[in-house]
Amino acid sequence: MSGASSANADFSPPTAPTATASANTNIALIKYWGKVDEALAIPATSSLSLTLEGTRTTTSVSFDGGAGTADSVTINGSSPTGAELARVSRFLDLVRSRSGVCAPATVISRASVPLAAGLASSAAGFAALAAAASHAAGMNLDDRALSQLARRGSGSATRSVFGGLVLWNAGHDDASSYAEPVACAMDLAMVVVVLSERYKPISSTRAMRATMVTSPLFPAWVEASEEDLQVALEAVQAGDLERLGEVVEGNALGMHAAMMAARPGIVYWLPQTIATLHAIRAMREEGLPVWATIDAGPNVKALTEGARAEQVAAALRDRLPGTTVSVRRPGGGVRIEEGS
Ligand code: DP6
Repeated sequence: MSGASSANADFSPPTAPTATASANTNIALIKYWGKVDEALAIPATSSLSLTLEGTRTTTSVSFDGGAGTADSVTINGSSPTGAELARVSRFLDLVRSRSGVCAPATVISRASVPLAAGLASSAAGFAALAAAASHAAGMNLDDRALSQLARRGSGSATRSVFGGLVLWNAGHDDASSYAEPVACAMDLAMVVVVLSERYKPISSTRAMRATMVTSPLFPAWVEASEEDLQVALEAVQAGDLERLGEVVEGNALGMHAAMMAARPGIVYWLPQTIATLHAIRAMREEGLPVWATIDAGPNVKALTEGARAEQVAAALRDRLPGTTVSVRRPGGGVRIEEGS
């Protein structure tokens, strides 16, 4: 009898491994806006970003059967439904189809900064999910392959696989569209100005689709963006913050001009967004190295020199009472957490 019970123990199914990974969010200096292939998430332009420290999302994945026939997903303690859940499950389907793992998954994810803090959350979220899910499924991907996989969850997640300054080569198919780190000897920082904690009225996915299809200014922005990227890369190589700042601000304003010209126009800005832009210009006139960038929302991120970041933050708090201003320095890439 004892022999039989030990044989049974040998045949009991192995418990599915849990993998935990984390990723920081990133802010684009030269923006990604528009996909030429939605299914594969191939962008209309290459983009350049800075990964920010202290903005990690940590995600655990186990293909353990999930909620029975479906995936069980928990994000910051609550369970998403509808489109949000479908987006995560679609991504897990991709991992399942590539790895041969069939079971539904349990996903538990927590962001270290509030989702409404004005920092892109899907970038960190899908980079961490890509790393944890591929690891749990035994896929053992290198960083480039991980970046290609993360792209399928959310475009900006492609870049969050890497730390510091990151270039996402637009490419033309699944294999050629990935991110890579860019050498940077500059002392850069971002000062984040949160003006509104409301969720965006229209998701970036839908807004970029509408801009591509209906904005007469979109082709001009795409063309300018190619040139902007070259200028930005040259400025980084030369350590020229002023040249970098000017092209960063111009590229973001151009992106918003293109979306405002969509039919109907997409306006993410609030009155305080304009006030912040003017405050940044006034600060520049007073000699501070500071340039604005704005994503799919009303909040403003100011690019500056690391050594002057606290001074820039103090000046912004002074000029914009009632707003939340925080300094973010460059951070690291995706990390598989111990014990995974
Ligand atoms: C304005 O990566 O959120 O932040 O690929 O549809 O998930 P999807 O979009 P997302 O778009 C980010 C747009 C942006 C600019 C940028 O990060 O480059």
